Amino acid sequence: MTHAIEAMDLVKKYGQVTALDGLSFTVPAGTVFGLLGPNGAGKSTTIRILTTLSTPTSGTATVAGIDVLGHPNEVRRAIGVVTQASGTDPQATGRENLLLVAQIHGMRGRAAKSRVDELLALFGLTDAANRLAKQYSGGMQRKLDVAMGLVHRPSVLFLDEPTTGLDPQARSEMWAEIARLARHERLTILLTTHYLEEADHLADHLVIVDRGRLVAQGSPEELKSELRGDAVVIDLSPDASVDAARTAIEGMAGTREITVSGRSIRTRVDHGASAVPAALAALERSSVPVAAVTVARPALDDVYLRYTGRTFASADAAQEKVEAAR
Ligand SMILES: Nc1ncnc2c1ncn2[C@@H]1O[C@H](COP(=O)(O)OP(=O)(O)O)[C@@H](O)[C@H]1O
Ligand SMILES: [Mg+2]
Repeated sequence: MTHAIEAMDLVKKYGQVTALDGLSFTVPAGTVFGLLGPNGAGKSTTIRILTTLSTPTSGTATVAGIDVLGHPNEVRRAIGVVTQASGTDPQATGRENLLLVAQIHGMRGRAAKSRVDELLALFGLTDAANRLAKQYSGGMQRKLDVAMGLVHRPSVLFLDEPTTGLDPQARSEMWAEIARLARHERLTILLTTHYLEEADHLADHLVIVDRGRLVAQGSPEELKSELRGDAVVIDLSPDASVDAARTAIEGMAGTREITVSGRSIRTRVDHGASAVPAALAALERSSVPVAAVTVARPALDDVYLRYTGRTFASADAAQEKVEAAR
């Protein structure tokens, strides 16, 4: 099996609302795949269909090579699901929560206990195993959620917004955890996120979804490199000649879109890292003193903007308003 997930032309309508509008993508086995989109893009709807919790209005999908519409029970055995809302019982301990899931999957006695111990250790929860889940921090609760999705050793794990609501420290711990799982447990992970940074950090491949449609796909690096290069910003010293600096930068090979604002000169180049020393040398030859140089890689926000004409943050905020008004 080369593809762990194949979604083909998924459409989902809720009355007048088209949540998915012909979404197709494939996920290679053993990779971390990101579904990135602002609120309301259709991410949770996609997860619900792929995990057999909802059926598409039209379109088909396979998970672990199994048709989600034809054989939902087989799909459920092959997957782990961590939904956006926590599935833990707050009045039970971490260990009890995991044991309950093990029992639901038909595991008993020593087999159940050893799998639970293994997962507690994997997520650093051994010391907290006998505390009630409601006493866990947000980050610990989310780890317990993920551990619960892994009890039956699924081959495909679905994580719907695994770090939403976590503080930055807990978020980066969760990132490390997810990256480790992908490496050591030979899992395919599909995660959704509305954090650009998270998709950038974690996903081998990602699709950017907007209004139920795919707007771009590729590795984070591929998507950003489509934007043709890095921005280099040179801040000149107070006594430098801006005109001389501009002439020097224009004379360099490979600089484009040169703009000047105040004492800053901004240009786009193919490779920021190699352009910086060349720019400094050119300015030095022209006797232009420099205060600071920064290189900004294109961010996924620039990718989203290019394909949709609006910034990611504004799309996210707009949808939150729509949903609040309902
Ligand atoms: N059960 C439902 N009934 C009606 N509309 C829904 C339902 N679930 C989702 N939607 C709508 O479908 C769109 C996509 O929602 P969702 O998949 O939850 O987006 P995301 O997870 O990307 O934020 C939104 O406009 C949302 O309001
Ligand atoms: Mg969602």
